[in-house]
Amino acid sequence: MNILILGSGGREHALAWAAHQNPKCDKLIAAPGNAGMASIATLSTLDTNDRGAVVTFCEEEAIDLVIIGPEAPLASGVADRLREAGIAVFGPSRAAAELEASKRFTKEICDAAGAPTAAYAHFTDPASAKAYVAEQGAPIVIKADGLAAGKGVIVAMEDADAFAALDDMFSGAFGEAGAEVVIEEFMTGEEASFFVLCDGEVALPIGTAQDHKRIGEGDTGPNTGGMGAYSPAPVLTEALQAQVMDQIIRPTLSEMAKRGTPYQGVLYAGLMIENGQARLVEYNVRFGDPECQVLMMRLGAQALDAIQAAAEGRLNEAQIHWADDHALTVVMAADGYPGSYARGSVIKGLDALLDDSFHKVFHAGTKEIDGAITANGGRVLNVTARGESLKEARDRAYAMVDDIEWTESVHRRDIGWRALD
Ligand code: AMP
Ligand code: GLY
Repeated sequence: MNILILGSGGREHALAWAAHQNPKCDKLIAAPGNAGMASIATLSTLDTNDRGAVVTFCEEEAIDLVIIGPEAPLASGVADRLREAGIAVFGPSRAAAELEASKRFTKEICDAAGAPTAAYAHFTDPASAKAYVAEQGAPIVIKADGLAAGKGVIVAMEDADAFAALDDMFSGAFGEAGAEVVIEEFMTGEEASFFVLCDGEVALPIGTAQDHKRIGEGDTGPNTGGMGAYSPAPVLTEALQAQVMDQIIRPTLSEMAKRGTPYQGVLYAGLMIENGQARLVEYNVRFGDPECQVLMMRLGAQALDAIQAAAEGRLNEAQIHWADDHALTVVMAADGYPGSYARGSVIKGLDALLDDSFHKVFHAGTKEIDGAITANGGRVLNVTARGESLKEARDRAYAMVDDIEWTESVHRRDIGWRALD
C-alpha cells in the first residue's frame, strides 16, 4: 500500500512511524514532513492545502491512502476532493470539520444529540452579549465562534474580564472568527481527551490522553500547543469511556449522519470530568499534538489497519489489541517558545539514544543542515517512551531528554504529574 501523510509535526511523524511499522506499508510519502520523517518517508513539497494539486499528486504516485494530520487541509476541503476522486482518505469532509471550525455548530449538534456540555448562548452583537454576562455573572467562558489559532477562548474569572474579551472579539481581535461569540457556563473538574476513529457510522475508541497546555511547570505561564502528554488518562475510567460513547460520541455521529454530513476520521473529544460525569468541552477533527505521539507509541502498527478501515468505511471489521501499557512524551521547544525564538541551533546526541518500540524521538520543527539536525520551529522534539507503568515511561523519557545536547531549549520536568501524584 502506498501512503501519503499530510503535515509536518510530531503528530505526523508518529503517524508515519506507526504506518511504517506495518508490513502493508510499501511506499510512504510525507508532505511537507520533517527531518525525523526523512529516514522512513520520502518528503515532498506538495502544497497540502491545494485540493487539485493533492489529487494530481496522488494519481501520479499511485497513492492508496491519504492520512491528513492537521486541520488546515480539512478546512480547505482536501478530503472531499480526494473522496470524489475515489482515493481513500482519513479525515472528515469540510462540512463535518465544522465540528472544530465552529463552536456554535458544535453546541447545536450537542443540543440535537442530547450530549452533555456546558450551558451556552450565542451572540452577534456586543450589547446583548454583555447583558447576558451581567445576568449570568462570572466565572464565565467567552469563545470566538471560529478558528482563532487556539487563542479564541477566554475563561473570565471576573465580569470585567468577560466584558473586555467581548470588546476585543467584536472589535475584530480575532478577525472573522470573532464576529460571532459563544458564551458558556464555566465548568469545573479535570480535563482529559478521548480519541475515537469513525467511518461515518461506526465508532472505535483508540485511547485516552492528557495534555499539558501551559509552558511552565505546575501548569503556569502562557498557553502553548502542548508541552507533553501521556496515555492512558486514569481519570477516564472504562465506565466513563462507555458513558462518553453512549451519551456524546454515538449521538454526535448519528446527528452528523442524519444531516447528510457523516463524520469520518478521528474525533478528538475534549472532556471535563466531575463527580463521575463527563461533559464535552470541545471537539477537534484531527489528532491532538502531542497526544497522537503517545497514542501511536501504544498502538504501533495496528494503528494503520484501524485508520485504513476508517477511511474505507469498514471499521466494523477493525479491533484494537490493547496492551496494559503507558506512554509519555516530553516536548522540547526552542528557548523563547511560545513567544519569539531563534531557528538554527544544532541538536546533538540524538543518534546515541535508544530507538525501539519503548523509546522514540518524534520530530516536529527540525531541519537537517549539512548532516546536522537543527531547530526549525517552536516545538521541536517529542521525546516519547512506553513502559509497564506511567512512572517507567516517564523515567525512560526523561533519561532520553537528559542525553540530548541542546542548550537553546526548554521543556517541562513535570509531565504526568496529575496521574503520578
Ligand atoms: P476549547 O478551545 O473550547 O477547548 O477551550 C480551550 C480551553 O479552555 C479548554 O481546554 C478548557 O481548559 C477551557 N474551557 C473551554 N470551555 C470551558 C468551559 N465551559 N468551562 C471551563 N473551561 C473551559
Ligand atoms: N494538544 C492540543 C491539540 O492538539 O489541540
